[in-house]
Amino acid sequence: MARVFSGIQPTGTLHLGNYLGAIRNWGRLQNDYPCLFCIVDMHAITVPQDPSVLRQNTREVAAGLMAAGVDVRNHVLFNQSAVPGHAQLAWIFNCVARLGWLSRMTQFKEKAGKNRENASVGLYAYPNLMAADILLYKATHVPVGEDQKQHLELARDIAQKFNNDYGVAFFPLPEPVIMTIAPRVMSLRDGTKKMSKSDPSDYARLNLTDDADTMALKIRKAKTDPAPLPDSSEDLKARPEADNLLGIYAALADLSREEALARHAGRQFSAFKEDLTELLVSVLAPINAALRRFLADPGYIDSVLRTGAEQASALARPILTEVSDIVGFLRP
Ligand code: AMP
Ligand code: TRP
Repeated sequence: MARVFSGIQPTGTLHLGNYLGAIRNWGRLQNDYPCLFCIVDMHAITVPQDPSVLRQNTREVAAGLMAAGVDVRNHVLFNQSAVPGHAQLAWIFNCVARLGWLSRMTQFKEKAGKNRENASVGLYAYPNLMAADILLYKATHVPVGEDQKQHLELARDIAQKFNNDYGVAFFPLPEPVIMTIAPRVMSLRDGTKKMSKSDPSDYARLNLTDDADTMALKIRKAKTDPAPLPDSSEDLKARPEADNLLGIYAALADLSREEALARHAGRQFSAFKEDLTELLVSVLAPINAALRRFLADPGYIDSVLRTGAEQASALARPILTEVSDIVGFLRP
């Protein structure tokens, strides 16, 4: 049976990159598959977090997901720590995955930086927990960005090795769902850097919490170059900021880059930015309004997450019981 699982860390406000690169695609998958969407607070604490900020971010991401189209009537939205099965299966996977596999993970190398000895063990074992997230529900399809493909490969390796080691055909091998038109959204200040919640300048990103005036201001201030828009996307390759704004326009309008260029070739950026702002506001203003409505009612957000955790637990329970039996744990 096909099932979608995806996760997002509650480590800051959601921005346009999260929306175009991940969340919007989740919304679209809901028509075709039963989905579980998980706010991965246990992944978040692999690096230090302020507890009250973590709690607030968890609610904010839940609100953002609902505002951006996650349908909690028909699908499951929950936070990871509320379903203890994630930690239980992750421990088993700690014993399946090999040290050598984890030491090849590029995200660990990036996040640990030079001072690797001082990184948490959790940061190293992060992909095992991610594999547990997915396989606890025997999910078959996992929408992820480019940057998470290596972790998903590892989840497949873990599923395969578990099946081999225990001589069972138990876990499916989960497939990545890479959305073809999902762009990598870059910083508005530097077209070679990813738009990121950790960027110190708020002008580098468009947050789902930004109102229309703020969005307009950020686009107006976004870095560009003096040349007009060219008529082929080849000619944008050497102009990262221009390329990024065009890419954002194309993604928002659901066009290819070439189609978007066909509309705007030869125009100056000042004029293009006005169109881009209008499009951006038309897409994000309703999301922003819904987000604010949800945030005004934290009790409702918590009730949604509570229900989601109950639904997720019910799906996980029989799978975890079978895993316990396969592994040889006594269930007294
Ligand atoms: P993060 O904000 O890094 O925790 O990522 C959450 C999700 O959003 C992941 O699926 C990322 O691939 C996606 N994402 C984050 N930043 C961007 C970006 N600048 N462009 C496209 N997708 C992004
Ligand atoms: N590691 C993912 C990220 O940083 C988040 C994540 C955790 C995830 N568990 C997952 C994504 C399971 C897909 C499936 O973006």
